[in-house]
Amino acid sequence: MQNENEAGDATPRKMTGWFGPTFFGVRDRARFAAGLEQMLGTLGGGWASGIFTGDNLITFSKNLSFLEDEAFMAAVARHATNEVERSIVWRTAVLYWAARNGLRRPGDFVECGCYKGTSARILCDALDFGDLPRRYWLYDLFEYPPGSSHTRMPEIGGDLYERTRARFADLPNVWVVKGSVPEVLHAGAPRQVAFLHIDMNAVAPEIGALEFFFDRVSPGGIIVLDDYGYQGYRDQRDAERAWFAARGCHVLELPTSQGLIIR
Ligand SMILES: C[S@@+](CC[C@H](N)C(=O)[O-])C[C@H]1O[C@@H](n2cnc3c(N)ncnc32)[C@H](O)[C@@H]1O
Repeated sequence: MQNENEAGDATPRKMTGWFGPTFFGVRDRARFAAGLEQMLGTLGGGWASGIFTGDNLITFSKNLSFLEDEAFMAAVARHATNEVERSIVWRTAVLYWAARNGLRRPGDFVECGCYKGTSARILCDALDFGDLPRRYWLYDLFEYPPGSSHTRMPEIGGDLYERTRARFADLPNVWVVKGSVPEVLHAGAPRQVAFLHIDMNAVAPEIGALEFFFDRVSPGGIIVLDDYGYQGYRDQRDAERAWFAARGCHVLELPTSQGLIIR
């Protein structure tokens, strides 16, 4: 891409930042990309740096500090291998922040709805989780019963459970658990949690996970609710906002669409 600088001269200037291609809900990708390029091309002078595109975010002139974190970015390069995973890197950086802060609190890490384990694997690498005296519990259905109303994830079913377990085979303190949240939690779950990530795209299991885990999250521990800010998941936002409000807590909706709570 090129842009005009503030003096109005059309000297080509390289834009810097993170350019993720995935925007959810776009019908005409080519037109959207052309419009985006045109819009960014209007940026002048030093404003054409610190650009982030992707995951329905368009920002410029931001520090994007996570791009400077070598351990994090190396893990992203290793494990975020498709367009969506690369486009949601800012969300993953929020998880990284939450998990790092979790390390200052007692307890295990939990993800409800791990799917392929991509974000958890990035956090494990960036934090050297294998060397830590904690466990990371990853729950997922891994397959849907016929006729279920779950959001269709492309790789659900088949050998996804086995592949996800294999992805963490080198980390004996990461446990991949197959089953339906919240029921499966009664068969095995940590008593104390320092970092809780909930990402199941459905109201009932997400509220069920909160009911089960909230009292187990250590004071100062972090809870991240994926999709809390996406309009397509407004029913989740409504239910979770009311659930937390009843406990005197307020969820921060982040620009990444995640909801953030500090216990
Ligand atoms: C959007 S994906 C999760 C992506 C993942 N958190 C990541 O960061 O890569 C949602 C996942 O929630 C899982 N899920 C939905 N309902 C569930 C339930 N009741 N119990 C366990 N997992 C569930 C789905 O199988 C799916 O893999």
